[in-house]
Amino acid sequence: MKGQLITLEGIDGSGKSTAARHIASKLAETLPERKLVLTAEPTAGKVGQILREELARANNIETESSAAQHMQELFLFMADHAQHLTKTVLPSLEAGAIVLSDRYADSTAAYQGVTLRGIVPDPVQWIQNIYSPWNLPPDKTLLFVLDPRSALERMQSRQGREKFERLEFLRSVDDNFRRMAALEPQRFVQIDAGQDAENVAEEAIKAILHLTCK
Ligand code: TMP
Repeated sequence: MKGQLITLEGIDGSGKSTAARHIASKLAETLPERKLVLTAEPTAGKVGQILREELARANNIETESSAAQHMQELFLFMADHAQHLTKTVLPSLEAGAIVLSDRYADSTAAYQGVTLRGIVPDPVQWIQNIYSPWNLPPDKTLLFVLDPRSALERMQSRQGREKFERLEFLRSVDDNFRRMAALEPQRFVQIDAGQDAENVAEEAIKAILHLTCK
């Protein structure tokens, strides 16, 4: 692969989507010769749209999901990831681009690693095992770390909140992300998302330039 894949991860409200836009515009200024692709999961494709509708609907009705519904959700996220990989990520990398993805497979491990508790053994590892034969690991993953309570406070004003934005749930997701980062210190760069947006973007850019200018 000629390009570099950089993923942005973190709990809801960690500010990574805002940071992604900042980072993309700063990178475009700093590396004008490089093609830059800013992308995201869930994608804007068919499966991604189904997922967004499902997440919004589940939030509105506030019912407990069954094991089968959690499995359905997992495989929708995986299908969306597979499509994202084949349609966007791999061709862009092949063309030499820097690909910045706002969420990627680690989100599935961290989030569905919580929803599948009690349904499959060691869900984070179980999900990672399903991915490993066909997934492309990122060159770097920027993990936006923020205390779940502060993240929830940041989201209070948001319209149309999705179902995963609850404190206990976010704490467990945060835990999964931190564990994953501790297990792969070469790939993960942890960024303190509590700083102001300018500093967050600066730290992220530093990590990216370190990788792209090697
Ligand atoms: P977003 O808020 O970053 O657009 O993501 C939408 C929600 O989907 C967010 O709560 C995280 C969740 N999610 C998963 O549960 N699993 C996944 O694999 C992905 C990509 C997102």
